[in-house]
Amino acid sequence: MKKIAVLTSGGDAPGMNACIRAVVRSGIYDGMEVYGVKRGYYGLVNNDMEKMEMGSVSDIIQRGGTILYTARCPEFKTEEGMAVAIANLKARGIEGLIVIGGDGSFRGARDITVRCGIPTIGIPGTIDNDLKYTDFTLGFDTACNTVVNLINNIRDTMTSHERVSVVEVMGRNCGDLALYAGVAGGAEAIIVPEVETTPEEVCERVRRSRMRGKRSNIIVLAEGVKGGFDPYAEKLETELHLSVRTTVIGHIQRGGAPSMADRVLASRLGYYAVELLQKGKAGRVVGTVDGKIVDFDILEAIAMTRPIDMSLFRLAEILAM
Ligand code: ADP
Ligand code: F6P
Repeated sequence: MKKIAVLTSGGDAPGMNACIRAVVRSGIYDGMEVYGVKRGYYGLVNNDMEKMEMGSVSDIIQRGGTILYTARCPEFKTEEGMAVAIANLKARGIEGLIVIGGDGSFRGARDITVRCGIPTIGIPGTIDNDLKYTDFTLGFDTACNTVVNLINNIRDTMTSHERVSVVEVMGRNCGDLALYAGVAGGAEAIIVPEVETTPEEVCERVRRSRMRGKRSNIIVLAEGVKGGFDPYAEKLETELHLSVRTTVIGHIQRGGAPSMADRVLASRLGYYAVELLQKGKAGRVVGTVDGKIVDFDILEAIAMTRPIDMSLFRLAEILAM
């Protein structure tokens, strides 16, 4: 294989740049030409890509976001859009494509391989950790650390005013970001879409903690929880007469310098994806299982399920009793 391309698609995630760097440099090391596609599938449909050199990816391993930009491209999902994207890849002689993104982006990659035979490899890039075939997605570790640091800040002011804070974090329908950040941030309660938690239960936890002398409380809530934070905040105010503040962390948690873990994961996955293309593999995704690098068929990987880590969830409850 002599010419490959790489793109980032869907929501950006810290570690995407480190991964682009790994793909570009591994490809060049193997004697390939590597093209960077701008704005995900939008760049395929609009033929917006350029050849990358070793120097094109200098000084980016430490940067959040993606130098290739990212987008959501509905046009690519149409028959015409897909045909144009494939024609553009073929016209440039691209023989393999690496897609860094989430499950939607992976479906697009598979469609390309099925329709025209160009091999594609997916690399999991999302802060949500909602791709169940892999231990962790790129960006998840960094986002958790960012949220934990913000919880520390919130804790300072909550303690000073003896308040309760309900902190909403991202994750779409997946509670992993709330769970891990909540455990690491010492939250008194963690509310995730996967586990039903009533406002009464949260109130009871906070009441108990106040009785043993706690002056502030942090409740971490995943954005995918139906009804949001209002039922919890209202109950705490009316039942316990506490001063409650809500914070939606928002996009602050998606940016920032990637952690060591995300940089190393990005480097390993980027290199491995290029290796798979070299070996003639197609329609695969890469990830880790128990820390080891693995690859799976795209559709099989997307269909995999994994319940939320209930042992970690219970541990959080025990430690915050
Ligand atoms: P993510 O990759 O993070 O799940 P999206 O679901 O928004 O993000 O998908 C990113 C892009 O991937 C979409 O804008 C679209 O161009 C492409 N895509 C998503 N779903 C499909 C699909 N079922 N078939 C083909 N392409 C898709
Ligand atoms: O998938 C990543 C993510 O940050 C989700 O956690 C969140 O729900 C969504 O993207 C936000 O999307 P946007 O940046 O388009 O508002």
